[in-house]
Amino acid sequence: MPDAVSVIASKRDGHELTSAQIDWVIDAYTRGEVADEQMAALAMAVYFRGMTRPEVSRWTHAMIASGTRLDFTHLPRPTVDKHSTGGVGDKITLPLTPLVAACGAAVPQLSGRGLGHTGGTLDKLESIPGWRADLDNAEIDRILADPAVGAVVCAAGSGLAPADKKLYALRDVTGTVESIPLIASSIMSKKIAEGTGALVLDVKVGSGAFMTDVDDARALARTMVALGTDAGVRTTALLTAMDEPLGCTAGNALEVREALDVLAGAGPPDVVELTLALAREMVAAVGLDGVDPADVLASGAAMDRWRAMIAAQGGDPDAPLPAAAHTDTVRSAGAGIVHRVDARAVGIAAWRLGAGRAVQGEQVQASAGVELHVRRGDRVAAGAPLATLHTDTPERFEAARAALADAFAVGRTEEDARPVTRPLVLERIGEAAG
Ligand code: URA
Repeated sequence: MPDAVSVIASKRDGHELTSAQIDWVIDAYTRGEVADEQMAALAMAVYFRGMTRPEVSRWTHAMIASGTRLDFTHLPRPTVDKHSTGGVGDKITLPLTPLVAACGAAVPQLSGRGLGHTGGTLDKLESIPGWRADLDNAEIDRILADPAVGAVVCAAGSGLAPADKKLYALRDVTGTVESIPLIASSIMSKKIAEGTGALVLDVKVGSGAFMTDVDDARALARTMVALGTDAGVRTTALLTAMDEPLGCTAGNALEVREALDVLAGAGPPDVVELTLALAREMVAAVGLDGVDPADVLASGAAMDRWRAMIAAQGGDPDAPLPAAAHTDTVRSAGAGIVHRVDARAVGIAAWRLGAGRAVQGEQVQASAGVELHVRRGDRVAAGAPLATLHTDTPERFEAARAALADAFAVGRTEEDARPVTRPLVLERIGEAAG
């Protein structure tokens, strides 16, 4: 029988953990037999020593085995889900889920709430009056099987990968989040337990993302694609740029409004581009050949699905979205071309305005956030509005403005007036790459 100290020492000294060691330590930690300080030491050893592919695979499966695993194989349509590693203004789940359902797949999108400067999909949808995130398994099944809906966005129940829930909270306070094997196993244990047949990963790279380096993002994507593939889930990944916010809004109701613009056939070009790129991957992953998501979006069918999906979860798709009681405008000090809009700074400003939470369980403001009036490459005059800040609590404006102090760079020389642009979709990682 393994014991915690020998497992920690083994990884500390750079050895590969055995399957028996991994199964035991994850199970014992979930039951409270391995203490937090011991798991923290092991996480730090993994952070420095890494894990081999068989170790990450076993670690992931041990975390899946710590809880329940959903099964959608009885549904009449193939299931496909998307997971994003998180970025500022990333509201893609909102238009993407009904779009892919309208293309003919069933979409079980089990999501989370935001913590820190990136928003959570559930927080965004909860700005719709009446909408409910907490569904039981029978409700999820019923909505997915309904041919007029076929899409659900809801909270991942506490029964899915409880070992990860405990370990992620511990990593958050022990400086062990940024480890590729730990991130990959954390995300994939939840996604595999969720029971989807296929999965498309949106791995963000850039100043507003977890991974600021493209090589790290590629390594993370490859590890996750391999884990999904090994578990029988058709998995592909797109590496996408997250240097500036996606679209023009960061904040819950503001992002819902922008998603509605996309479903109505308009919306910011980057949000439309990424929605369609991910939809094409998802549709291909479940073999719906010959369906072009761009045609489905243009037909209005995705908007119809959105309305059905919101109503199926108690929401009123016709109710007005909440608007903030107070707004404030950030203006450009000088004239020139905008060559940087920093995603992280915009995310922090939205969070400080009340769109996000500092600690788990805190209430968020539905209407708070940042609305951008300029994108990289736009020409602005001195005094032109760069962003509007929204909040119900105006004492937050000062801290939000401080976060944005260096967020906008307006070029005044020939050299810095030319914004550096890179494509939104940087790379595709397919199954063969695993
Ligand atoms: N998201 C997760 O679910 N887990 C991680 O480790 C990092 C991001």
